Amino acid sequence: MLDRVNTQVLKFKKSGIRKFAEAASLIPGVVSLTIGEPEFNTSDRIKDATKQALDDNHTHYPSGQGLLSLRQAVADFESKQNKMQYKAEEVIITNGSTEGLAACFLALLNEGDEVIIPQPMYVTYQPMIEYCKAKMVPLDISLSNFQIDEAALRALITPRTKLMVITSPNNPTGVVLNKQSLDAIKAIALEHRIFVISDDVYQQLVYVDHFQKLSDDVEMRHLLIVAQSFSKPYAMTGWRIGYLLADAPIAAHINMMHSYLVTGISTFTQVATIEALNEDTSHVREVYRQRLLRSMKILDDFNIDYVKPEGAFYIFIKIKEFGMASEAFCNKALHDYKLALVPGIYFNTSKDEYIRISYAVKEKDLYEGLNRLGTMVKDLRNEKNN
Ligand SMILES: Cc1ncc(COP(=O)(O)O)c(C=O)c1O
Repeated sequence: MLDRVNTQVLKFKKSGIRKFAEAASLIPGVVSLTIGEPEFNTSDRIKDATKQALDDNHTHYPSGQGLLSLRQAVADFESKQNKMQYKAEEVIITNGSTEGLAACFLALLNEGDEVIIPQPMYVTYQPMIEYCKAKMVPLDISLSNFQIDEAALRALITPRTKLMVITSPNNPTGVVLNKQSLDAIKAIALEHRIFVISDDVYQQLVYVDHFQKLSDDVEMRHLLIVAQSFSKPYAMTGWRIGYLLADAPIAAHINMMHSYLVTGISTFTQVATIEALNEDTSHVREVYRQRLLRSMKILDDFNIDYVKPEGAFYIFIKIKEFGMASEAFCNKALHDYKLALVPGIYFNTSKDEYIRISYAVKEKDLYEGLNRLGTMVKDLRNEKNN
C-alpha cells in the first residue's frame, strides 16, 4: 500500500546519527561519542514537582498554547536573559524544540519558498522544509570561519526567500555567530522582510564572554522567532518540552498549527517545568567547559586539528589529512578501534573533511574515546609514512 501514502514522507531518510549510534550499540566494548544528549539525570527538584503535579491531578487537557503559569514564567525568565521582552501570549509551549521548529515551518512556508541555512547544519530542519515543498538554500560558511559573510548571504536572496534558520552555538561546530554575522543577517532580513528562526537550544551552554544574540535586538522583533528547549541545559531530553517566542500576530499564527499538531503538551510536565526555570544551570555549564578544555588538550597533544568550539557540547574534528570520506573514517573507527563517531557529511558539509564528537557523554568514555581516536590517527599517519 506504500504507493498510496504521502510521497513527501517517503522522501524522509533515517537520521545518519541514529544509524551510527545504533550500529555502535550492537558491538560490545564500543565507546560512543555520538549522541548529543546530556548523561546527567533531571534534577530531583523537577522530578518532585512532577510527582506533586500528578498528586494535584494536573492530568487534564492543557490549553494548546501552554499553561499560562508556565508561559508567564518563560516570559519572565527570558526578559532577564535578553533585551527583547515577550508577553505570555507570545510564548508557545512545544514538544521539545523539534515540534516547535516543525510548527514554524508548517505555518510559515508555502510551496516554492526558499529557506537559507548556513552549512554545516543541524539536519532535522530539512525534512519539514521539504515537506512544505519549500526549498532549502545552503549557505556554505566553512570558508569564512563558520561566520556569515554578508556578500555571500546577499547573493542567495531571491524574491522567494522567506526564512533563515540560524543555530548559535551551532551543532555540529559549537561556534557562536559573531556581531558581523548577526549584523549581516539583520540588515538583509529587514531589507527583504525575511523571517529568522534562531534555534537557541544551546544558548545556556556558551563558554565565551563575547556572545551576541538576535534576541537582544529589538528592531528584529517582528521577524524573529526563537526556538528554545529544556532538553540540554536541564537534562530533560525525554520530557519533550521546549518553547517558541514570537511577535504576537506571528505567535498566534504558529500556535494555530501547533494546536492542531499536538493539542498541547502534557499538563503535569508543564507544571513541573516551572521549577526548571528556577534552577541555576551555571554548574552544568562549568562541567561542560572543563570537559571541553580537557578534550581540546588531548586533541592538541595528538596534534589533531578541530574547529574551536565556543558553546554546545560538540567538537568538529578535521580529518582532511587522511584523505578518507568521513563515513569511511567512522566505519574504520567503529570496527578497528571500537569507537563510534559521527561522519561530518551528515551535517551537509560542502567538503567531506570532518567528524563530530559529543562531549556530553560520561567522562570516562569521553577520555577513553579521545585516546582511541588518537591511536587511530597515529596509526593512519604511520601507514602514510611507510
Ligand atoms: C541545534 C538543535 N536544535 C534542536 C534540537 C532538538 O532538541 P529538542 O527537540 O530535544 O528540544 C537539537 C538536538 O540535538 C539540536 O542539536
